[in-house]
Order: sequence, then structure tokens, then C-alpha cells
Amino acid sequence: MPEISEQNLSACNTLGLPACARVLRVRDDGPLLWLSGAVAQGERVFVLGGGSNVVMSPRPHSLVVKVETRGIRLLDESPDAWLVEAQAGESWHGFVDHCLDHGWPGLENLALIPGTVGAAPVQNIGAYGLELDQRLHSVLAWDLHAGTQVELLAADCGFSYRDSIFKHGEPGRWLIQAVRVRLPRAWQPILEYPDLARHPGLAGGDVSARQVFDAVCEIRRRKLPDPAVLGNAGSFFKNPLVPATQAKALRDRFPGLAAYPQADGRVKLAAGWLIDQAGWKGRQVGPVGMHAHQALVLVNYGGATAEDVRRLAAAVCEDVWQRFGVRLEREPVTLD
Ligand code: EPU
Repeated sequence: MPEISEQNLSACNTLGLPACARVLRVRDDGPLLWLSGAVAQGERVFVLGGGSNVVMSPRPHSLVVKVETRGIRLLDESPDAWLVEAQAGESWHGFVDHCLDHGWPGLENLALIPGTVGAAPVQNIGAYGLELDQRLHSVLAWDLHAGTQVELLAADCGFSYRDSIFKHGEPGRWLIQAVRVRLPRAWQPILEYPDLARHPGLAGGDVSARQVFDAVCEIRRRKLPDPAVLGNAGSFFKNPLVPATQAKALRDRFPGLAAYPQADGRVKLAAGWLIDQAGWKGRQVGPVGMHAHQALVLVNYGGATAEDVRRLAAAVCEDVWQRFGVRLEREPVTLD
């Protein structure tokens, strides 16, 4: 039986919530068969990456599996693209940086997203005009139900905005071991997102992938609180998707509404704008609050618990519902 010990996880979640749980550290494939057996006997397993998208209860019942495998390699090089594989325990930002250093551009819009490579497909990370599923080739995952390794192609992962089979379809079934990205040689910068389109570092002629990377890092550092300084889990709510008719009715009442039409006919509303307009930006309730520069980010000013987070999130949701008739959906997952 692999080593399992009771550990303090307050430094393993970027919200900085107090939590103590049984932890199994995975540094190779060794413990995986045992883990499948434990699941078959009713053990509830929670796979933890960088802890940047999780709200932890003080005493979770789940066995926390911390994946700490490392390694990045070029798997294949064709006339069209590079195929690069990273182990789940690598830092996501480190992986993006490594690819650029090796002349494999394509992930730069996703720079500085906290967390690990293994966590990236779970919520299909996205920022500044790019979502992971646009670059993901496949995921190597351990099927905890069947006790085997499976290669899931991007089309098998059920990706949509901030969602995948790993998060909703079959949570608890998959342990992501490695991620493979396909980076086309025909690189074009993605600069449509307003913050990038007007960024001074990207003005004028030819733009390199490294310049896009630097601009994204600069924007994120300016807008989003550093979890090392102020506990947070990034966006606390998803941007809601509403029917076009509802978006139009809202825009008639609120001309400043931040809204983006989607390919499927629906309209994505900026949850940060709704929360801001509802008066929550920079508002503190006990040890928690909504960030002063980006109302979508719930922050822990120190000493907060999962219950403080839950109460504030519920109050914000209720207020947005009352004012705009829009239901906000929480983004981070729960460890309990
Ligand atoms: N806005 C406000 N007030 C606020 C915050 C935003 O009015 O307090 C308005 C902005 O002015 C803008 C709009 O809302 O018109 C959108 O804001 P922003 O560009 O900051 O992006 P976002 O929609 O709030 C999303 C992602 C971020 C990602 C950025 C950039 C979600 C849930 N969040 O935020 O992702 O970095 O776009 O692509 O989709 C994360 O998931 O943790 C995250 C930070």
C-alpha cells in the first residue's frame, strides 16, 4: 500500500483556506493500480493539481491525490505542426514558457494561468481569445474505474466553455497523467481580445509569440491579484450564456452591458460587469470580498473558511439574480 498521510493543505490551495486531509503523492505510475482498487472499494478520490480552482472544506472526506510527475518532450515534428507532451505535475505557465523557448509557439495567450498541466483540461482553461481545446491533441488519463491508461482525443473530452468530462461528465473517474498539444507551424498571433488589441507592447508591424506572452503576463499582473499575496481562485463565476432575446432586453435596460455574441446564437455576458454593477466590486464581508480591480475574483483577506466563501458567493449570486434575472454559475470545484 502506498504511503498516505494526514496533511495540512492550506498552502496547497490558492484561496488559502484551512484544510486537513489524507494525501497520497503520485510521482510515477506506481500507486495507480492500488488507487483503482481503493476506488472500487468505495474510496472517494479527489485529484489535486495546483489548487488554483478549488474551494476546500476544512476536513474533506476524500482521499486527496497530489500528482507531482514532471517532464516535457517533443513527441513528433511534422511539416505542419509540433506535438508536445507535458506530464500532469508540470506548472502550466512553465510549460507555455518552455514551448516558446524551444520555438514552439501557440500557447502564449494562456500565459500565467496558475495551476498544473494536469488541471488545464479539467476546466478547459481559456484567456485572451484562446481556449485549451483549440490546441489540445489528447490527454493520457488513468481510468480509475477500469484500472487502465487511456488516450482520450480532444473530441472525446467533451470540451465546452470552462467544462469537460473530467469536471462534470465523469468526475472521480479520471486521473490525468499527461497532456499533448498540437502547435501548428503556421503561427498567427491572436490579438482580437480588447486588452490585447490596444496593448502598447503589441502596436505596429510584426508581433512575436514572445511579445504576446509578455503582454498577457503584464495584463494579468495588472488586473488579477497574485494568490501569493492575496488568496483567490481566479474568476469565481463563469461568464453566463443567455439567449439573444434576453441579452437584448438587458441591453435595452442597461446600455453599458458587457456582452459577446457566440457562434451558437447565444450571448456571453461578463459576470464581472454584472457583479460590479450590483455594487460588489471592492466590497469586503468579514475575511472575504470581491476584488477591487476585477469584481469576478473572490479574495480571502486572511483567515477565511469555505463557509465564508460559500456565504459571500451566495449573496453575490442572489443579488445578480434579483437585479438582472441572470443565474451565475460557480467556477471552482469543491473538495469535501
Ligand atoms: N468588467 C467590469 N467590472 C469588473 C470586471 C470586468 O465592468 O469588475 C467588464 C470589463 O470592463 C470587460 C468585461 O467585463 O468589459 C470582461 O472583463 P475581462 O476582460 O476582465 O474578462 P472576464 O470576462 O471578466 C474572462 C475569464 C478570465 C480571463 C479573461 C481574459 C471567465 C470566467 N474568466 O474574464 O479567466 O483571464 O476573460 O480572457 O471566463 C479565470 O478563469 O480564472 C480567469 C481569470
